[in-house]
Amino acid sequence: MTVLSLYPTAEEERPLQGLYLGLNLHRQAADGDLLIYSNYIASVDGRISLTTEHSSETQVPADIINRRDWRLYQELAAQADVMITSARYFRQLAKGEAQDLLPVGQEDEYADLLDWRESEGLKAQPDVLILSNSLDIPESALKLLQGRRVLICTGKHAEPEKIAALQAAGAELFEMDTPDVSGAAVKDLLIAQGYRTAYMIAGPQVHRTLIADRVLDRLFLTTRLRLIGGTGFDTIVSGEIGGVADLQLLSLYLDRNDSTSQLFAQYALQQQ
Ligand SMILES: NC(=O)c1ccc[n+]([C@@H]2O[C@H](COP(=O)([O-])OP(=O)(O)OC[C@H]3O[C@@H](n4cnc5c(N)ncnc54)[C@H](OP(=O)(O)O)[C@@H]3O)[C@@H](O)[C@H]2O)c1
Repeated sequence: MTVLSLYPTAEEERPLQGLYLGLNLHRQAADGDLLIYSNYIASVDGRISLTTEHSSETQVPADIINRRDWRLYQELAAQADVMITSARYFRQLAKGEAQDLLPVGQEDEYADLLDWRESEGLKAQPDVLILSNSLDIPESALKLLQGRRVLICTGKHAEPEKIAALQAAGAELFEMDTPDVSGAAVKDLLIAQGYRTAYMIAGPQVHRTLIADRVLDRLFLTTRLRLIGGTGFDTIVSGEIGGVADLQLLSLYLDRNDSTSQLFAQYALQQQ
């Protein structure tokens, strides 16, 4: 199970397993700083999700997901102190429609990642930070994360009754002094809480929030070599990001497996 290294060019074939685990992302941030990274899988026509039969909702297209990419998704989770996600994820989880319970996966094939976390002195599972203004976060879904710290960041118009209910369910609530949660506030909060690596797995709005404040450090982007079409879809970022954000290619691998042909790219965001 190998991939071809296109950049850097000298490396040629490399095993898929360990490709991202070897990055040691948990050791990259300087003292008192935090490394934030995001990860997406997209089709060549840029879709990360398609609308479902309920036209207001979207899901990752079944035509692009695959276990080889999922292995890398898990390796990125293994290196995280905390995962940043959206309230929507928990709404999907409560309906049984989420792709998975937040990793690191408990399946046998990811047991090496749980062992790796232990040997690196990391907690058994990353904690979770949720961005939400509505605070429509089903308590039944939060209960699935027992043993993990759950932090919820919300804007200044949050309803006090919802805050109280989520606190009663065990979550820690952080109210911002702005209508929306900002990327800079998320980063400051995570640093204050002692975290060193944060893995962002939400969609285009949370991504925009982090990019607009230039607090995202790395972007991992898998491009499945397929066109899938569709009229209702998300791409990796939506809305204004305050001018262009330049990316530097750090690595690019080609998965030549016939049934999962895809490119695995890693970019650094250049901080202006
Ligand atoms: N292919 C992939 O790799 C990939 C990866 C991730 C997601 N996806 C897909 O992308 C689609 C969209 O995902 P998503 O809904 O998680 O993404 P999202 O657009 O990032 O998040 C939406 C929700 O997050 C909250 N939110 C976002 N920014 C906020 C801010 N600045 N302040 C306060 N709250 C904020 C809001 O929650 P409230 O409504 O509660 O206020 C908002 O409705 C889904 O279909 C998902 O499956 C695909």
